[in-house]
Amino acid sequence: MISPVDQRTWLVSESPFNPFKLHHTETIFTVGNGFMGVRGTFEEGYSGDLATTLVHGIFNHAEGDLVPDIVNLPNPLPVQVTVDGELFHMTAGRVLGFRRTLDLKRALLTREVLWRTSQGAIVKLTFERFASLTEEHLLVQRVRVRALLGSPQIEMRSSVDAKVTNLGVQHLTDLHTSIHDSEILVTARTNQSNYGIAVCAAHDLSIASPVQSDAERVFYTFTLPQENEVSLTKISAIYTTRQGDQPSHMAQETARAALKKGYETLFAAHCAAWEQYWHTSDVLIEGDELAQRAIRFTTYHVLIAAPRHDERVSIGAKTLSGLGYKGHVFWDTELFMLPMLTVTQPKLARNLLMYRYHNLQGARNKARANGYEGAMFPWESTDTGEETTPQWSHPQPDGTRIRIWTGDNEQHISTDIAYAVLQYWRWTGDDEFFVRYGAEIVLDTAVFWGSRAEYNAEQDRYELRMQIGPDEYHENVNNSAFTNSMVRWHLQQALVVRNWLLTHHREAGEALLTRLGITEARCAKWSEIAQKMYVPRDPETGVLEQFDGFFNLERLDLTHWQPRVANMDWILGHERTQRTMVIKQADIVMLMALLGDQFGSTEEQQANWDFYYPLVDHGSSLSPSIHAWVAARLGLLEDAYKLFMYAANIDLEDLKGNVRDGIHAAACGGVWQAVAFGFVGLGLDERGELQVKPNLPPHWRSVTLRAYHRGQIRTIRLTAEN
Ligand code: BGC
Repeated sequence: MISPVDQRTWLVSESPFNPFKLHHTETIFTVGNGFMGVRGTFEEGYSGDLATTLVHGIFNHAEGDLVPDIVNLPNPLPVQVTVDGELFHMTAGRVLGFRRTLDLKRALLTREVLWRTSQGAIVKLTFERFASLTEEHLLVQRVRVRALLGSPQIEMRSSVDAKVTNLGVQHLTDLHTSIHDSEILVTARTNQSNYGIAVCAAHDLSIASPVQSDAERVFYTFTLPQENEVSLTKISAIYTTRQGDQPSHMAQETARAALKKGYETLFAAHCAAWEQYWHTSDVLIEGDELAQRAIRFTTYHVLIAAPRHDERVSIGAKTLSGLGYKGHVFWDTELFMLPMLTVTQPKLARNLLMYRYHNLQGARNKARANGYEGAMFPWESTDTGEETTPQWSHPQPDGTRIRIWTGDNEQHISTDIAYAVLQYWRWTGDDEFFVRYGAEIVLDTAVFWGSRAEYNAEQDRYELRMQIGPDEYHENVNNSAFTNSMVRWHLQQALVVRNWLLTHHREAGEALLTRLGITEARCAKWSEIAQKMYVPRDPETGVLEQFDGFFNLERLDLTHWQPRVANMDWILGHERTQRTMVIKQADIVMLMALLGDQFGSTEEQQANWDFYYPLVDHGSSLSPSIHAWVAARLGLLEDAYKLFMYAANIDLEDLKGNVRDGIHAAACGGVWQAVAFGFVGLGLDERGELQVKPNLPPHWRSVTLRAYHRGQIRTIRLTAEN
């Protein structure tokens, strides 16, 4: 039996069904396993639902669309049940009871419905599903029907829905459905990228009843005596040509073998694998059940999205839980989700970093295309590693399109990726990765900055013009303090890396430096750029100026606009917002988070916080968790806790009103960072040793978390007395 505390902190439930939250709950009830993500859509469907099945790495650029999209695959979920000829549906007959529960511990989604047909029979329907963590191609479902009143005639029909689109955009072609006995095979091909896709669903009914089929469905018909229960197990295997030439064959073999093992065996293995995940990734918070459940929820969503066995894919901003941002990968992965994985699941973190390594060519292409050297990573990236940020928005209500500049000028991503590589290396001590792959990322992105930095002879300083810092409300600015500071830091690190390679791995190091063209002269230039990099700053207060001219913008008092859900740039309009100091998200505060005490003295940190905190709109979900982290570090516990709970509930409570598009994955990863790096104050000191500098919310009795440090698992437990 699950204890009441566990019930409150491991389970996310919906009861009764709320059709107005259909898309929100579809997103939050997504199941996944690092290969696939399947939204929490009902098996029997619901009007307007957004059934979405995504696997990493399958993108397609449909004709007429601006950029590639992650592809919605044939939907393996459909199972329909008729009772005495009446089709079960949430709007038919009478729903007497409804509870949907996501069990975070076991990554199992269950829906129980007590249903009375129009003719009076009462059945209990139980739908279960999980995306197997041990066999990642498998989505496992079970549908149970129990006759509570009457002995009805039941029909159970199952299909794989191939008529899927991405909100109307057609990515699939050559669709073909075939049925052999109780097995359904759907094959398709993406119409531009030419990936082959196969979904094979195999079925097993708990009672002896002959299987029937038509062109698209298999079905079973039988009488269910009162008090009896029947269960249909449906196991769908998904493969694509990214796994091999014969996805149909692989899907069939896998589904058949899994069916032989049966639901219970598959589920037991799945649970054991999840236990391993939680062993290191669970954060235990005593004294705050809401925070406890929220952090499990956010951790779950990062874990179900993190590729386990594929190092050529990465996690999109909305994970595999929705079509928002077309599945594209941003800095969200490296600076928001990855730290939690680096510290608690380093193998998964390594996979994600390898995605960037394998896509260095795309980054080099982007640098060349823009007249630079080295590797300039794309702001948005898909399967090819090329820049995939759209240049124009979709038409606005007045028919005009807005130019999107992030793909051109939000260049800090190259440093963000280098930061993540170095962070991974420091925490894990994985020299093998670093020498073979990581160093190349850090160094070639430094080569890019060396060619990008502009010398201002009049002022004898280096500058970066036409940038977008994290605050995307202000575009194409000169000397973003965030970007310039991070680039300075990056070039300093690159010089350290070079020396380290030459000292510890001379042969490999020399080969790499030669290949990347990193000469003495280039290093001297890096050193000069780092020394003379201009970072705008008020010398009296130590407050950084977010970019040239920021201090002259109009200052608005945001408290006048409370309460509100809408972002300030919607309220003020894009142009007007740019003329104000209203900022979208943590920018200087992001820099404070990343650089820690290297940012400046405690007084300087406080002064920057005091200046920038009142200006932030949190127009991006990436913002609150970073603020929580920094506030905790500064000992501003009331603000820290408020911001932390805001971040933690963004998806659970749909605080931004757009969860239908998918989980805010960066916010999820940020929640872990707010606790680990903020409240617990976990970090590495200069020698790379673990340190904690706690600042716990006063009502938390204890926090326990685990961290891999150089291959060893360490448990950190803080109690209120500490
Ligand atoms: C944020 C970016 C983020 C992107 C994807 C934008 O709204 O401003 O920082 O990378 O969303 O989540």
